[in-house]
This record gives sequence, C-alpha cells and structure tokens, in this order.
Amino acid sequence: MEKTGVLYAGKAKTVHTTADENLMVLEFRNDTSAFDGEKMEQLDDKGRVNNLFNAYVMQKLQDAGIETHFVKLLSDHESLVRNLKMMPVECVVRNRAAGSLVRRLGVEEGLEVNPPIFEFFLKNDALHDPMINDYHIETFGWATKDQIARMKELTFQVNSVLKDLFAAGGMILVDYKLEFGIFEGRVVLGDEFSPDGCRLWDAKTLEKLDKDRFRQGLGGVVESYIEVARRIGLEL
Ligand code: C5P
Repeated sequence: MEKTGVLYAGKAKTVHTTADENLMVLEFRNDTSAFDGEKMEQLDDKGRVNNLFNAYVMQKLQDAGIETHFVKLLSDHESLVRNLKMMPVECVVRNRAAGSLVRRLGVEEGLEVNPPIFEFFLKNDALHDPMINDYHIETFGWATKDQIARMKELTFQVNSVLKDLFAAGGMILVDYKLEFGIFEGRVVLGDEFSPDGCRLWDAKTLEKLDKDRFRQGLGGVVESYIEVARRIGLEL
C-alpha cells in the first residue's frame, strides 16, 4: 500500500495517508519520549520491536473478538490500519497502583487494585493530558454516552485477555492505556499496544519491564521489550 502523505506525526509514530481513504499506514519510529516530551531519545530497534509487538497483541485481541484497526504488517516498521475517527481521550485501566495514581493519591506502589480502576485522560499535550470523567467527555462532545460505555467495556475486555496472556509469561499487567475511534459507527480499538503504553512487572521479582525503564533511566529498554515479547511467544 503506497503512502500518499503524512497525516500526523506523533512522538513515536507517524500516520501516513494512502490512496484508500479507509486505510492508513502506521509507522513506528525509534523515537522515545517521556514526561510530555521533555525526555526524548532514539532507541535502536525500538520502532521494529514495537511494530511487531503491537501486531502480535492486536491479533490476539482480534482472535478474542475485540475489533481493532489493525489490518496487516507491511514491513518491520510499518503496519496497515483502518482509518478510525479517533476520540481525543485515553482509557487507562489499573490492576496495581503505579505512576500517576501513586503520585495523585499517595497509595503505595504495587498495591493490588481490586476491582481495577478505570480512568479517562484528555489527549492534549498543551494541557498535559488532564484526567477527565464521563461528564466532561459527554458535555464537550468528545464522545457520546454510548461510546463512553463501549470504551469502558472494551478496555476491560482487553484487560481479561491481556492479564492472562502476560501472566502465562510470568508477568503482571500493572496498567495500560488504550485509544479508540469510530469506524462505520462502531467503537474500534486504535493506536497501539506495546510496552511503551503499559506497565509490566516480572511476577516474581517485580522488575520493571516496560517504558518505566526509560522514564527512570534503568537502561536495557529495548532488550526488555524483546524479553517481554519472547515470554508471550513472540521471538523478535
Ligand atoms: O502515567 P500514568 O500512571 O497515568 O500512566 C498509566 C498507564 O498509561 C501507563 O502504563 C502509561 O505508560 C500509559 N500512558 C500512556 N500514554 C500517556 C499516558 C499514560 O501510554 N500519554
């Protein structure tokens, strides 16, 4: 599928248009950012690793009956996806306390969160992605009541599939972020699922295996992503 132009260049991915208005090319770059783009680095091989990781996980979700935008891999760095009308919100589910939840509420890192907590954030760099709730989303027209309910339902379905997948590889899915869009009137999973957008800990040692390695300067970031992939059955 030929790329015809750049629709949007994000912090780690570029979205390219194609001749077919229903299809786009998602390019995974080596750029890695944290703290709203304050910390930026190129990590060798990360684009390839995340592209292949995302393809593998999206396929698992599709096999479990969760509709995603993923169509097929095009190359090491590129995937073909359906062109969703994205809703400007991030859906986060937390199974353990970490990150901004710990900072906001002062709870202990690692605390089991049962039932899991769902949070919405507004996708807005200038405002630093503030936390919002259903009322903000509906009132300001970012999604309808039905779409809000569907995003929650799908995000929790993803939790059941992926918690088990990572647990089988000896890992804890601590939390993750998803983004959804509309395709032919349906709410469909978009964006990506990779260790850039979730927290994964080794179940025995609680070692961090995700992007917190980059945020906290622990090193071995891409090596760790490759290890996570290996543990869920994907040799990179
Ligand atoms: O920072 P916070 O603890 O709220 O992040 C929750 C989860 O969402 C983490 O797994 C983090 O990697 C992910 N996230 C993300 N992109 C953002 C914000 C959070 O992937 N813009």
